[in-house]
Amino acid sequence: MTPQDLQPEELPHGAAARRGPFRAGERVQLTDERGRMNTITLTPEAAFHTHKGFLNHAELIGKPEGSIVANTTGQLYQALRPLLSDFVLSMPRGAAVVYPKDAGQIVTMADIYPGARVVEAGVGSGALSISLLRAVGDRGYLHSFERREEFAAIARGNVETIFDGPHPAWQISIGDFQDEVVKAEEPGSVDRVVLDMLAPWECLDAVATVLAPGGVWINYVATVTQLSRTAEAIRADGRFTEPESWESMVRGWHLEGLAVRPNHRMVAHTGFLLVTRKLADGVTSLALKRRPSKTEFSQQDLDAWTPSSVGERAVSDKKLRRAARDAVATTQTRGHVAPAVDENTAGGTADETADDGSVEN
Ligand SMILES: C[S@@+](CC[C@H](N)C(=O)[O-])C[C@H]1O[C@@H](n2cnc3c(N)ncnc32)[C@H](O)[C@@H]1O
Repeated sequence: MTPQDLQPEELPHGAAARRGPFRAGERVQLTDERGRMNTITLTPEAAFHTHKGFLNHAELIGKPEGSIVANTTGQLYQALRPLLSDFVLSMPRGAAVVYPKDAGQIVTMADIYPGARVVEAGVGSGALSISLLRAVGDRGYLHSFERREEFAAIARGNVETIFDGPHPAWQISIGDFQDEVVKAEEPGSVDRVVLDMLAPWECLDAVATVLAPGGVWINYVATVTQLSRTAEAIRADGRFTEPESWESMVRGWHLEGLAVRPNHRMVAHTGFLLVTRKLADGVTSLALKRRPSKTEFSQQDLDAWTPSSVGERAVSDKKLRRAARDAVATTQTRGHVAPAVDENTAGGTADETADDGSVEN
């Protein structure tokens, strides 16, 4: 039996609403001839107004996706249902959302599969919850935890918009993840844990309790200090594999005739991902056996975080002065009059400065 043979009510949740002609109540993305986008919710009596006329929503209801319609002054609009990646960037939000590029990485690298038993916190606006629900499917399980009721309400609304109603695999609980998840889930019963919050290290014990041996724990954090603290807490705990971390950058391209080049602007930073897996009960990580580490950063540790202790190579004053001289010389060769340089304060070195001017350490 193929999906084409299924009745709409037999299709996975939300699938039927994404097919067929436009219906009243659904969101439609309008793109004008200059590429400007607006998202409207189709309401039979409503109209989409701009300073160049208006378009009655009724014109769209019943038309196939991809239609091009004209407003009262002949302005043309291309009409499509927003994709998930469009929706999460335009949906109502209270907290920052996980961007589609990161949601894709999370689903793949945390190995979220149909039927998986997943717990998640915090929910924020529900962007990541939607991707997780798509991945676990109707017969999977996603239990999301959010400490703030208002965010949970926004997330619930967004999830129900995209799935055209409540999702059968989803439940959301209000409260702190670390307190609630251990009450709600049996020890060792969860396949995947996904955290997007300020202090994931506070959840370490709870994650170790509910996660099944071999289960994956993925964290999305915005800063390197959170990343480091989470990694060190995991390492010091010993119940998990060596954590791995990465970030992804997506650069769009401008495609026009022979002018094919990267876009001038990009979203350069969203967050870092850090993944680890739960070891069998009673087992201590090989890395911890090899190199015991401290559990927490003490004030002493924080004071010790000098640039060199975090891997930055010290550059000698002599090298800095030489670089300053080289920089002045380069500027003069290009015909600019360089300001006088104080040898004691100038920075950068010639042999350590890349073509783009950055200093490699
Ligand atoms: C950046 S938002 C999450 C965004 C969400 N992943 C999305 O894609 O829309 C972080 C959320 O975590 C919640 N939070 C922080 N610590 C928490 C905890 N310990 N337990 C539950 N929720 C928490 C915050 O209230 C906030 O809503």
